[in-house]
Amino acid sequence: MARRDSNSSPNMLTSFNFFLYRKPLCQEKKSSFRFWFHFLVLFCLLILYLFYTMCNNTQSLREGFSLQKTFSWLFVQTPRGNAPPYGVDLKHRLMLNDIHEKTEPHPAQQQRLQYHEAYPRNYRFVMETAEVCKVNLPFLVLMVPVAPKDVLARDAIRATWGKDRVVQGETVLTLFVLGLSGGIDVKELQQENQQHNDLIQSNFLDTYLNLTIKTMVIMDWLATRCPAAAYAMKVDSDVFLNVDNLVIMLKKPGIPQKNYLTGLLKGNVPVIRSKDSKWYVPKELYPDPQYPTYTLGMGYVFSNDLPAKFVEVSKSIKPFNIEDAYIGMCIKNLGLSVTSPPDYSQFRDYNTRYDRCEFSKIITYILDSSEQLIDYWTDYKKPGPHC
Ligand SMILES: *[C@@H]1O[C@H](CO)[C@@H](O)[C@H](O)[C@H]1NC(C)=O
Repeated sequence: MARRDSNSSPNMLTSFNFFLYRKPLCQEKKSSFRFWFHFLVLFCLLILYLFYTMCNNTQSLREGFSLQKTFSWLFVQTPRGNAPPYGVDLKHRLMLNDIHEKTEPHPAQQQRLQYHEAYPRNYRFVMETAEVCKVNLPFLVLMVPVAPKDVLARDAIRATWGKDRVVQGETVLTLFVLGLSGGIDVKELQQENQQHNDLIQSNFLDTYLNLTIKTMVIMDWLATRCPAAAYAMKVDSDVFLNVDNLVIMLKKPGIPQKNYLTGLLKGNVPVIRSKDSKWYVPKELYPDPQYPTYTLGMGYVFSNDLPAKFVEVSKSIKPFNIEDAYIGMCIKNLGLSVTSPPDYSQFRDYNTRYDRCEFSKIITYILDSSEQLIDYWTDYKKPGPHC
């Protein structure tokens, strides 16, 4: 049997071949018709199959869209113009996601609202003082956040480091930035501004917890009212500022003209979770245990291309009440980093005792009061050698 089979199969193949290819001529038309009929059926099946898979794909596309809608608050956080460092950003987003899932039923709207809180274009200028930057294009703008009621601090600065309009041959502008305050007479502030032309006021409530908003308003003013200035500094009103040394530093060869942020660098600073602290930040506002490296808020200096970038990126960074660390977050999310000053010993924080020689070398020192500023300045400006 086996033998017969093995013998018969070539025969069968031959006959099959014959059947296929050696048909009688009369059947040729019929079989070509059959061939085309089969081809058409197969073709239709193919079309149907393709159509079916395409339908399935559309389905999954649609599902994709609805997913994106559900989690749109996650997508909203990604800045459009500036690519953040994604690894970090994603981690941050996931952590936020986690928190909101635990604590809030509708994260989407909540998130958008909160994220927009520090975005300065939610507020408008009550006093704009925009012309000061057009009269004389400044090399350096000193932006001083100050409470509306703090006339003494403003006058002390006007009498000391804020007095000179030209320093080391460069135009320097000193401006004060205020929010709204209930008890303060608007007329008084307007008069003060008529006299000095150095007040900028925005319509957010001027409180300690709102200092991040104030900083972002400073950035907005620089970006929109003074974009042609080369450098700017956010400097607190309790600081002794050696403007000469600052301008000399900025004119040193090799100091970047773009993406430059310097001052007293702070790295690995833990977030304070003790509710009694002035610097307390709840986990809901800032989940990471540490801040990114930032420049201490007493006075940080930056190239004036940065303010517009800060304003843009602030749309996507949840605000928290530590303004200098917030700027650190902005720099980080822009994919940039802070730069050490050429001489890091020039940015000092707390001052223990006045030393005329030392004050001639530094750029910043934090003081106790406006009286101290006037006292030290009076001595510092006396003729004669500093050291
Ligand atoms: C911050 O300013 C906004 C806008 O004026 C105000 O609604 C809010 O109460 C202020 N927040 C604090 C903590 O003062």
